[in-house]
Amino acid sequence: MLRERSAGTGDRQIRYLEAGSGWPTVLIHGFPLSADMWIPQLEAVPRGWRFLAPDLKGFGPAPGAPAESLDDMARGVVDLLDELEIERAVIGGLSMGGYVTLALFRMAPERFTGVILANTRAAADTDQGREGRDRMSALVRAKGASAVADAMLPTLLGRTTRTSRPEVEPAVRRLIEGNTAAGLDAAIGAMTQRRDATPLLADIGRPALVMTGDEDVLIPRTESEDLHRLLPRSHLVVLPRAGHLSNMESPADFSEALGNFLHSNL
Ligand code: MLT
Repeated sequence: MLRERSAGTGDRQIRYLEAGSGWPTVLIHGFPLSADMWIPQLEAVPRGWRFLAPDLKGFGPAPGAPAESLDDMARGVVDLLDELEIERAVIGGLSMGGYVTLALFRMAPERFTGVILANTRAAADTDQGREGRDRMSALVRAKGASAVADAMLPTLLGRTTRTSRPEVEPAVRRLIEGNTAAGLDAAIGAMTQRRDATPLLADIGRPALVMTGDEDVLIPRTESEDLHRLLPRSHLVVLPRAGHLSNMESPADFSEALGNFLHSNL
């Protein structure tokens, strides 16, 4: 059963969703979403596993102060693990959640038993990417979270979802509009400033699951193939007919691949 919880960690209350019991797996959300994007996986938590999905700093209904950096977001996840007395866990995320996962590995590699990197990349932003972020930052400051939803929904979702799964778009929009403009703007700044994590990949000797959708236009599958090639113990799963939000677009296939990975490798 899915539970909504909150834990006090020094400077803020962290809201998180939880399901199942057993070996812990932390699922970190992407931009511009919240912990709720992981509800389909929490509802299908495999037996023997405990899934936890926190709101990153600056996101969700109790955002706290906007995040200063991806490290700041990663520190919040470490604080939550400390508070829950979880020493080690499988830790992973989708897109920005993957950037935060890599920042967390740089900070505290001993906390990882395994890694999940979905629809994400290790490289820093390109100059062109930074220009896009500047435009998004100006948009969110002027017009708020709804304008971010308008701008991003066409690329967040894959072609098949946009044409054949009409229920997904309003669900994603609701999550985006549940965030504050200040929190989103701070996250844009944090992503712009992130370091290239590619040199880190060779050190991630834990079992790793790399996932993507073959209709992801924001982070094309070739970037997931690069991650798979550079991680020493990686499994690559490409979901057909899914875009950037692969776990929400193909929830059953995503959950099945995640469950298979956990059972076979950890
Ligand atoms: C995300 O889904 O988290 C974002 O698209 C990542 C990004 O903008 O780089």
